[in-house]
Amino acid sequence: MASTEHSFARLIVFSFLLYIVKPSTSLETIGPGQSIRDGDTIVSTGQSYELGFFSAGGGSARRYLGIWYKRVSTGTVVWVANRETPLFDRSGVLSITDQGDLLLINSTNNVLWSSNGATQARNPFAQLLETGNLVVKDRNDNNSETVVWQSFDYPSDTFLPEMRVGKDFVTGKETHISSWKNFDDPAIGDYTYGIDPRGFPQLVVKNGNTTRFRLGSFNGIRYTGTPRMNQNQVYGYEFVLNDREVYYTVHLRNTSVPTRLVVSASAAAQRLVWIDKTQSWAVYFSAYEDKCDNYGLCGVYATCNINNSPMCACLEGFKPRSVSDWALLDWSGGCVRSIPLDCGRGEGFVKHEGVKLPDTSHSWFNQSMTLKECQELCLKNCSCVGYANSDVRNGGSGCLLWFGDLIDIRQFTTAGQDIYIRVAAAYLDELKKKEKSRERKRVAIIVCSIISVVVASILVWILYIRKWRFSNRAKIVNTIEKLDHKKSRTEETKEDLELPMFDLTTIVSATDNFSSGNKLGEGGFGPVYKGILSDGQKLQEIAVKRLSNNSGQGLEEFKNEVALVSKLQHRNLVKMHGCCIEGDERMLIYEYMPKMSLDYIIFDQSKSRNLNSKARLNIIDGIARGLLYLHRDSRLPVVHRDLKASNVLLDSDMNPRISDFGIAQIFGGNQTEANTTRVVGTYGYMAPEYAGEGLYSPKSDIFSFGVLVLEIISGKRNRGFYSPSHRYNLLGHAWKLWMEDRIVELIDNALEYETCDLSEIKRRIHIGLLCVQERHEDRPHMAAVDKMLSGDNSLPQPTQPGFFTERGIPEVDYYYSPNHQEFASTNELTISIVDPR
Ligand SMILES: *[C@@H]1O[C@H](CO)[C@@H](O)[C@H](O)[C@H]1NC(C)=O
Ligand SMILES: *[C@@H]1O[C@H](CO)[C@@H](O)[C@H](O)[C@H]1NC(C)=O
Ligand SMILES: *[C@@H]1O[C@H](CO)[C@@H](O)[C@H](O)[C@H]1NC(C)=O
Ligand SMILES: *[C@@H]1O[C@H](CO)[C@@H](O)[C@H](O)[C@H]1NC(C)=O
Ligand SMILES: *[C@@H]1O[C@H](CO)[C@@H](O)[C@H](O)[C@H]1NC(C)=O
Ligand SMILES: *[C@@H]1O[C@H](CO)[C@@H](O)[C@H](O)[C@H]1NC(C)=O
Repeated sequence: MASTEHSFARLIVFSFLLYIVKPSTSLETIGPGQSIRDGDTIVSTGQSYELGFFSAGGGSARRYLGIWYKRVSTGTVVWVANRETPLFDRSGVLSITDQGDLLLINSTNNVLWSSNGATQARNPFAQLLETGNLVVKDRNDNNSETVVWQSFDYPSDTFLPEMRVGKDFVTGKETHISSWKNFDDPAIGDYTYGIDPRGFPQLVVKNGNTTRFRLGSFNGIRYTGTPRMNQNQVYGYEFVLNDREVYYTVHLRNTSVPTRLVVSASAAAQRLVWIDKTQSWAVYFSAYEDKCDNYGLCGVYATCNINNSPMCACLEGFKPRSVSDWALLDWSGGCVRSIPLDCGRGEGFVKHEGVKLPDTSHSWFNQSMTLKECQELCLKNCSCVGYANSDVRNGGSGCLLWFGDLIDIRQFTTAGQDIYIRVAAAYLDELKKKEKSRERKRVAIIVCSIISVVVASILVWILYIRKWRFSNRAKIVNTIEKLDHKKSRTEETKEDLELPMFDLTTIVSATDNFSSGNKLGEGGFGPVYKGILSDGQKLQEIAVKRLSNNSGQGLEEFKNEVALVSKLQHRNLVKMHGCCIEGDERMLIYEYMPKMSLDYIIFDQSKSRNLNSKARLNIIDGIARGLLYLHRDSRLPVVHRDLKASNVLLDSDMNPRISDFGIAQIFGGNQTEANTTRVVGTYGYMAPEYAGEGLYSPKSDIFSFGVLVLEIISGKRNRGFYSPSHRYNLLGHAWKLWMEDRIVELIDNALEYETCDLSEIKRRIHIGLLCVQERHEDRPHMAAVDKMLSGDNSLPQPTQPGFFTERGIPEVDYYYSPNHQEFASTNELTISIVDPR
């Protein structure tokens, strides 16, 4: 019943179409006897694409039949039929034969292009689908339709979602994308993008027969050569490999984002570009992002690392073929083995981590083998030079073996893969010897340093005790005098030092004689107590930071803090009521912060639930204002040097207050950075140049601020961050997610039901990443951060963060094979040594 109705409806629509053919200029389908002339078009049902005639380039007389985006005003052409055979006037006509062949003829009835379907269709008609695919369908007796020809099988320079690039092993037909000859000539150009089906199939960009860029083989998650081209909310990639065919396709997950991949004809660098259209066409991914993308730049058996200078280096166990060429940065000769393989006993493998796997055109694969079987197989065949997992999901599976020279390897910071490269037995022996002596050295160094540290600390202790006895007393007295004799100072200093002094007895009674019940916590320089001052009728809650007596270090910090905080006033800085100096007692009296410090809340799963996204944004922006005041707006520019979650206190309205100015430094007007030999701060928040070279500047605070932003949004500590899938800290994790376009995954699960502020949160993450960039020159100033936080202008792309891994990734791990194993492990390196002899 339903089906009769259906076919009836279809019939009506169809005859209606027949009826309107003549006067219309815009059709949905054409059947035998119908045609479109220059000026007419076929439009897809959802109005996304249009097929018709166009001129390429400016004002050219040449006319082509093609498909373009209907909604995009610039007329972006995605497919051209008569690429090599243009029309020279507007007389072109497209029609369909009774057998289902599409024909393009000119005014003298010459066929300029045909679909050459050689189909035996009975009721054919041509239709432009919503995907941009021009199809010829055959409606058979059952009224079901089969596709007998499609333009997606004959792409031009544009890859659209649902298109397939690959090879049919049965017919031998390869489908690839090919560039135009140049920007106004759609004839087939030099550049192609397609699958290299040899060995384990990989995606490549070629110029003629020469490979220029390898996107690489598919490892279950991504193409190994393009960490950025990743599964995301807009695209999903699919790779299919079986006995009959291999192909790769893309599924558009959000159809409201038109997306295309173009192999550009221009000689400019970008020849392969993923573009999506949100407002204007935006480049999402582009090949040749850096020099290491050039195929085989470093020659054979070498890796390219864009962060190194020079970029190219021989693999472990290899040396430059020509040392002089190598020194002149001509790497094309590549590297050779320092000890040749002889296929004897005892050969093994060196493991290289996080690389772009080498060219797989001379490889062999089996997707059901384990890594162990893979290794055994490789060892058995003398011409096998390396192996790796073919699929990295679920800890890795499948086997990939390489034969012949290894080429086009590069080191990635994220998303690289592990490969095991064969080396000679004698080379392994050398490595083992080296490792043993290194181990001995390491032990010796550790022992020596322990001894010297002990001796040095004893000496320092003795010196310190003496110094403290004789000189520091005087200094304390000095401080008191300075604070007391404010009347004799100039107006400005008078104002500066308007800091009330409290009696010890007042504080003792306020804190109930420093009772343990009033203790709030233990700071770096001593305990902090809660107290209540009664000032006639009014009661005031205070926090008292009591410098511990035996903390010699704390004295300097104490003076520093008194001097600084008394001059600083801002609603995002903690407010000091005064100080107390009596005998050996030194105390700072602050306003009491009922919500404690930020770390106490954000890293606690149950407490952080109450901190919604609005509150978190408010905290981030408050800290930024406080820091802007410190860096720019206070009378004395100050670098805090120890900004961290536990030094941000929260008032009763959850407004942040920066506290703890113990190691803060006044920063001269034109000074851009300063150097210190004493690096104090907190690991996990310290900028690389500060921790490494003792260089501090407002930019090191910016780094800490960036860490703090990411911590507040993720609810995780940077230091001690753990992920089962990698060994980066929170910064590295955020960077990885950013690169993979999955940054929303960084957001604290506690915020999962709130989506209203998503763009605001993403903006904060973006700013956070800009603040933690490795090079301090790249990080924005606080004033710029402030603008970024308030404005909605676009932000620059961040570069790699500093310190994104805590342990540092060893570039090469050593790995030996095969039978019995003994493990020697140290903090840095895991080594399994095997000696089959
Ligand atoms: C039609 O195409 C043929 C073959 O390319 C060509 O020789 C002929 O001149 C064309 N006719 C016109 C009117 O352009
Ligand atoms: C008609 O449909 C049946 C079952 O769906 C199928 O077996 C048969 O091949 C179809 N006929 C044609 C001509 O396609
Ligand atoms: C490319 O390779 C094919 C097949 O190997 C060969 O016929 C063709 O001449 C080559 N083209 C160039 C430009 O070398
Ligand atoms: C698809 O993308 C558009 C534009 O970016 C966005 O507004 C919309 O929310 C997205 N839809 C889905 C389901 O992600
Ligand atoms: C792949 O490896 C599995 C497991 O070792 C084996 O059973 C299978 O025959 C292999 N397939 C090929 C094509 O070698
Ligand atoms: C080693 O592998 C190559 C490539 O698969 C093959 O041609 C050769 O026969 C193999 N040699 C041995 C001894 O298995």
